[in-house]
Amino acid sequence: MDLGLNEAKVFVAASSSGLGAATARQFSLEGAHVVVNGRYQDRLEETAAAIRRESGNNVLALSGDVTDGETARTLIENAAARLGGLDILVTNAGGPPPGTFESVSLDDWEKAFQLNVMSAVYMIRAALPYLKQSSRASILTITSVSVKQPIDNLVLSNSVRMAVAGLTKSLANELGEQGIRVNSILPGWTRTGRVTQIMESRAQAQGITAEEAGKRQGASTPLRRMGEPEEFANVAVFLCSPAASYVHGAMIPVDGGAIRTTL
Ligand SMILES: NC(=O)c1ccc[n+]([C@@H]2O[C@H](COP(=O)([O-])OP(=O)(O)OC[C@H]3O[C@@H](n4cnc5c(N)ncnc54)[C@H](OP(=O)(O)O)[C@@H]3O)[C@@H](O)[C@H]2O)c1
Repeated sequence: MDLGLNEAKVFVAASSSGLGAATARQFSLEGAHVVVNGRYQDRLEETAAAIRRESGNNVLALSGDVTDGETARTLIENAAARLGGLDILVTNAGGPPPGTFESVSLDDWEKAFQLNVMSAVYMIRAALPYLKQSSRASILTITSVSVKQPIDNLVLSNSVRMAVAGLTKSLANELGEQGIRVNSILPGWTRTGRVTQIMESRAQAQGITAEEAGKRQGASTPLRRMGEPEEFANVAVFLCSPAASYVHGAMIPVDGGAIRTTL
């Protein structure tokens, strides 16, 4: 199937590693012009160079913190200027720290809101004028399975992801008639740097290896394993592509069946 992404102009936020990097790579392999982003230019250049080597397509590296409104706006405007427009925006950022309602501070709440909700708001506001000019415009937000089912000890993530889910559905309502599709992926446990760190700290606490901690987490899903970033990226790239032209306002789990509910 031709995904119709050749020469598409794509900005993938928070993509120096993890789910974002895998998604940027897959877009590039499909022939898109991709901008990768992260806070640290050196690290980002390495990611861009690795993708470029593999795909043979140009990849731009624009560093900046997407939680800062002015920085996020400038990033999108620079990306659109360098690419000559924008067709696809993938919003993403790091995840908030773990904790329970009684262990996290008010400052943690504000930071989590800024990290996951406001970063998406900033980027989407800045991108809309360009997306409106595109004939294959699409926005993808990255949330979590926690929008369907809270995860223990992640009160911040469980809460702020719901706001991004609400934003995604509202935007689908508002932007559909302008031909801009908006969807979200709800990742389950996927083997990225962030998850490896979580498994290492679990392993230390439980006196087991990180590999064993990962196996135990994976065993809790119907597929009995964690996901790989490429498995996430394949779905992300399809959802953003013209091949998914009637998929709009969808909240798609990529979770090995972890969400058991039917709705
Ligand atoms: N992996 C999973 O199992 C899973 C499951 C559900 C939800 N999620 C969520 O999906 C998102 C991506 O997860 P991941 O596992 O890929 O995380 P990751 O491995 O920690 O990667 C996060 C990426 O975001 C960048 N980043 C972090 N803060 C940023 C900021 N303020 N501005 C710009 N870039 C920033 C990081 O680069 P720099 O550090 O270089 O800036 C890195 O490239 C997170 O929100 C995570 O909570 C992940």
